[in-house]
This record gives sequence, C-alpha cells and structure tokens, in this order.
Amino acid sequence: MVMDEATLSASLKREAEAFEQRIEAHFRGQPGPSGRLEEAMRYSLLAGGKRLRPILCLWTCDAAMRGRGNGDAPERSEAVWKAALALEMLHTYSLIHDDLPAMDDDDLRRGQPSCHRRFDEATAILAGDALQTEAFDLLSQIDDPRLSRECTRRLARASGRWGMVAGQQWDIDTTGGALDLTLSYEQIFKLIHRLKTGALIGVSMALGAACAGLEPSEVDRVEEGGRLLGEVFQIVDDLLDETSSTEELGKSAGKDREQGKLTAPRVLGREKSRGRAHALQEEAMAILEPVLSHSEELEGLCRRLIDRER
Ligand code: IPE
Ligand code: IPE
Ligand code: MG
Ligand code: MG
Ligand code: MG
Repeated sequence: MVMDEATLSASLKREAEAFEQRIEAHFRGQPGPSGRLEEAMRYSLLAGGKRLRPILCLWTCDAAMRGRGNGDAPERSEAVWKAALALEMLHTYSLIHDDLPAMDDDDLRRGQPSCHRRFDEATAILAGDALQTEAFDLLSQIDDPRLSRECTRRLARASGRWGMVAGQQWDIDTTGGALDLTLSYEQIFKLIHRLKTGALIGVSMALGAACAGLEPSEVDRVEEGGRLLGEVFQIVDDLLDETSSTEELGKSAGKDREQGKLTAPRVLGREKSRGRAHALQEEAMAILEPVLSHSEELEGLCRRLIDRER
C-alpha cells in the first residue's frame, strides 16, 4: 500500500528540515579560514533544494535496517548522516558548476540568483571545488574503516569520469550542434541521463544501503535501481523544462531547446518520453522491491518522482 500524498509531503518536509539543521550545525561547528568562500558554499547549500538525494540515502538506510530486523524505527548512525550531507554537498557543487557561463549559463537556481551571479565566477568555481572535496572529507570521517572506504569509493566512481562529470561532458559535447556520432540520439540521451543524473541518485540509495550493513552485491542492486530512477528523474526534468514555468521550478524554464540540448522530449517527443519514464520506473521499482517493501515512505517517494511538478 502506498502512502497518501499529504502524509508523504509532511514526512519529506520534516526530513528536509532535520537535514538542513545538520547542514547548519556542520558549518557552525567548523568555521574555515575564508569567510567569503564559506558564505558562497552555505548560500548554495541552504538555498532550499528538494533534498532528494540525502532523503533517498536516509530512507533507504531506514528501510534496509528494518529489513535486517532492526525494529520499526531503527536508530540512525552518524555514518548515514555524514553520507547524506556528503551527497548534498556533491550535488550542490554539480549545480553550481552546471550554472556557470561556460556550461548552461543560468542566472537562477533554487529560486535565487545562481552562485556566480550572487558572488562572482571565480568564487562559484571555488565554492563548487570546496563542496566536492568536503564531501569526501566527510566520508573519510566515518568511524568504521570498511564502510568509510566503501562509501568513498562508490561516491568517487559515481561523481567523476565514470559518472556525473562524464555525463556533463557528453551533455556539453552534444549541445547545440551536430557531432559525428556513431551512437543514435536515443542511445546518447540515455547515456547522458544515466551518467549525469542516474549516477548520483543511484549512489545516494547505495550509500544508505551500505550504511545499513547490506552486502556489496545487494548494495550494487540498490545502486542500479537508483540509477534507473535517476533516468526517470532526468526525463521529467527535461519535460518540466518545456512545460513548467520559471516561478514553479526556481530555475529558468525553456532553456534546453533554446540552447539545443539533446533532451528526451527533443528526441522522442513528450508523450513517448513519459512512456519511457513510466517503463523505467517500473523496472526500477522491481529491482528495489526487497528494500521498498520495508518502507511506504521510500516507495511513495520513488513513485512520486514521475509526477513531480518541480
Ligand atoms: C537538479 O536536481 C539537477 C538535475 C539532476 C536535474 P534537483 O531537481 O534535485 O535540484 P534541487 O536539489 O531540488 O535544487
Ligand atoms: C544537470 O542537468 C545535471 C547535473 C549534473 C547538475 P540539467 O542541466 O538539466 O539540470 P538543471 O535543469 O540545470 O537543474
Ligand atoms: Mg546541464
Ligand atoms: Mg542546467
Ligand atoms: Mg534541466
């Protein structure tokens, strides 16, 4: 049975608030040597994103712990909170850099001027760099050395040349022009979606599963399910760019076509894109079933990714 919308929304709001308090506490506890750098990092982190990745990590961990017989309300470890914070830092860095003039050149993010508009380009680049390294610093502080290594390795693989950054490179290389391509457009946008978005959503669930103590082969399975959900998430992002408004999204709508991005609706049209998203979602839900069966909240959140409005 899937949780009703209002209950799910209330849970998400509560979780996002608890998570944001963790962000605040993290910076309060450790002021660094550059106030301006820190201001820029906090500005982008606290601008009010949906907190999807940290919440997926926390809820996957809760669900997997229940599955392992840790009771209905298992206590969360410091390790999983560190992983959740690391994921949001890594994601926020990717957004700051994504908005730079050299990339998507976007003036608005999370309903506010993007980092380079509010500060300056150099500071935005540096804030992104520092958020990225701090994510790995956090994972290195996980007490259990085996878990710390596992989380570090998985996040590194998902972020760099095997994951998000490689996807961003493909995105940039296919923007606005014809390349001499040996792959079809359909194969390329799938690759872009899996890498630039699927990798980080997959690893968000994987770190939650690892923190709950699942075996690496089970964590791999969760990561693959999450990657598919990430593909769904990006198809919907591409659709919303065409159908929603800047006010609703908190970022400039309608830019993908203007810039000639290789998006799902451009290649398949809107209706087929929706169909594709539904099929991928069903595939993901089947892979994730052993974990989802222990959490109505997590199942509800995964289902909601397709109907979201922002
Ligand atoms: C935006 O991610 C970048 C994409 C992968 C489409 P989100 O839509 O999760 O952004 P925030 O965190 O809510 O701002
Ligand atoms: C960005 O994809 C994915 C990232 C890795 C940041 P988009 O460029 O479509 O994300 P938005 O629409 O700017 O949030
Ligand atoms: Mg982009
Ligand atoms: Mg962008
Ligand atoms: Mg987009």
